[in-house]
Amino acid sequence: MDHSYQQLANNLQKQINARTYLPGDRLPSVRELAKDHGLSLETVLHALRILENNGLVDAKVRSGFYVREPKLQSVATPNKTATVFRAKDVTLSLLRHQAVTFGTSKNIVPLGLSLLSSEVLPTRRLAQTLSSVARRYPKETSNQAPVAGMESLRQQLAQRASNWGCFLSPDDVVITCGASEALHLALRAVSHRGDIVLVESPCYFGTLEIIESLGLRVIEIATDPREGVDLPELESALKRFNRIAACLLVTNASNPLGYTLTSRIKQNLVRLLSRFQVPLIEDDIFGELHRPETERPKVAKSFDEDGTVILVGSFSKTLAPGLRIGWMVPGKFRDRILQLKSATSLATPSLPQLAATEFLKFGSFDAHLRRLRGFLADQIYRFSSAIAESFPPATRISRPSGGFLLWLELDADFDALTFAASALNRYRIAVVPGNLFSAGGERYQNCFRISCGHAFSPRFAEAIATLGKLACSREARTHDK
Ligand SMILES: Cc1ncc(COP(=O)(O)O)c(C=O)c1O
Repeated sequence: MDHSYQQLANNLQKQINARTYLPGDRLPSVRELAKDHGLSLETVLHALRILENNGLVDAKVRSGFYVREPKLQSVATPNKTATVFRAKDVTLSLLRHQAVTFGTSKNIVPLGLSLLSSEVLPTRRLAQTLSSVARRYPKETSNQAPVAGMESLRQQLAQRASNWGCFLSPDDVVITCGASEALHLALRAVSHRGDIVLVESPCYFGTLEIIESLGLRVIEIATDPREGVDLPELESALKRFNRIAACLLVTNASNPLGYTLTSRIKQNLVRLLSRFQVPLIEDDIFGELHRPETERPKVAKSFDEDGTVILVGSFSKTLAPGLRIGWMVPGKFRDRILQLKSATSLATPSLPQLAATEFLKFGSFDAHLRRLRGFLADQIYRFSSAIAESFPPATRISRPSGGFLLWLELDADFDALTFAASALNRYRIAVVPGNLFSAGGERYQNCFRISCGHAFSPRFAEAIATLGKLACSREARTHDK
C-alpha cells in the first residue's frame, strides 16, 4: 500500500480531533497499531513521527506516544474567589435585564446567554413530537395538568433519577415552568423576606435576581475554580449568621465556573447543612452535560437522609429552552411547594409535558445527550484555544468539567462593563460581564463569561479575535476612563 503511513497518520489525527484520545492519553503502542492494522513497525513509526512533527503527539522514551496537551494548558485557571461575610441586598435587575435583552437580539454574535444553538438541539424531532402528541391526545393537551405535573412525565424522571444516584417515585417529583420557577418556589418555601441565602461566588445571575425579587439577602461563599464551594468557609458562615434560610448551589458543571463537586464533597455538604438544619437547594441543570469521558455525576440529593435537599432540574439545556419544562424533587417541603405552585401558576402547560414524556420514552434522548456532550467538549476546546491565542497572556480561563460556559479572568484593571458595552455596540458581540455574578454588581469587574453553545465557525473565530484585540486595548482598562 502506497502512503499507508500517511493514511494511518490521518486516521489517528481524526481520532485525536474527535477526542477518542484526550490530551495526555497514550496512543496504542507501535506494536499494537502494526498488528491491528496489518502494517509494518516502520510504517507505524513513520505515521507517528508525522503526528509528532505536526505538534499533535509527544514521544516519551520507552513509554510511547502521548496526545499533546493543547496550548491552552499554559493558560492559568481563574483565582480562588473570596467569601463576603456580609449579608447583602441584591441589586442586579437592571444589569441583568440589559444582558438578556442584548443577548437575544438578532444579528448579534451570541456569546452571552447560556443558550444552545437550535442546530445542536433536536429541534425538528421535538416539533414533530409536539404536533403528533397534540393530534393523538387532544383532551390531555387542552385539559389542565395536575398541580404536581403529569404522572407520565414524573414517572419518566423518577426512572432517570436512578442514574443521578436517587431512588425516586413519581410522587417525589413536581413539574415546573423551567428551573427558574423551581428555584423560585424552593426559595419561597423555605424563607421569609430579609432572610439570608448562602450562594457560591461567582453565582449565576438568574438566581441572584430571583433572590432579589423575594427580598432576600445573600452571603457569597468562596469557591475554587476546580473544587467548587469552600466548605470551611460555608461552615463559618453557618456559625456566624442566624437568619440563614437556605444554601443554593449549582453542584454539577456550575454556572459560571464549570466545576463539579465530587461525591465526597457533596456528601460532606449535605451533612454539614443538615447539622445546621439549613435546606440545600441543589440546581442540577447542567448535570447531564458532563464531559463525555466521565460518568454522569451524582446529585447531592442522593445523600439526603432527612428530606432537606430540594433538587432542581430542567430540559432547557438539553432539549429546548422554549419548552419551559423543569422539575424539582422537593423532599419534605412538597406540600408547601404544591401550595405555592398552585397559587403561582396553577399548573405547568400540558402540551410541553406530553412532548417531553414522549421524547424521554421514544425520542432517543440518551443518544442525543451522548452526541451533545461530545459536541460541547469540542466547543469548549475550540473556543478556549482561540481565546488563548488572541487574549492578553495573563488571561486566566476556566476548565469546565461540563456544560458550555467559559469564565475569563483578566488583569485587575480590566473593566468588564466597558468591554461588554463596546463589544456589543461596536462589534455586535454579546458577552456577560462578571459584575452580574455578584449581588451588588461590584465584584468580578475584571471577569466575563462566554457561552460556547454555538458551533465554532469563522464567524465565531473572528468574534473571539475581535474580543481579544479589544481586551488588549487601553479602552477596556479602568485607569483610562
Ligand atoms: C444555573 C442555572 N439555573 C437555572 C437556569 C434557568 O433555567 P430554565 O431555563 O430551565 O428556567 C439557568 C439558565 O441559564 C442556569 O444557568
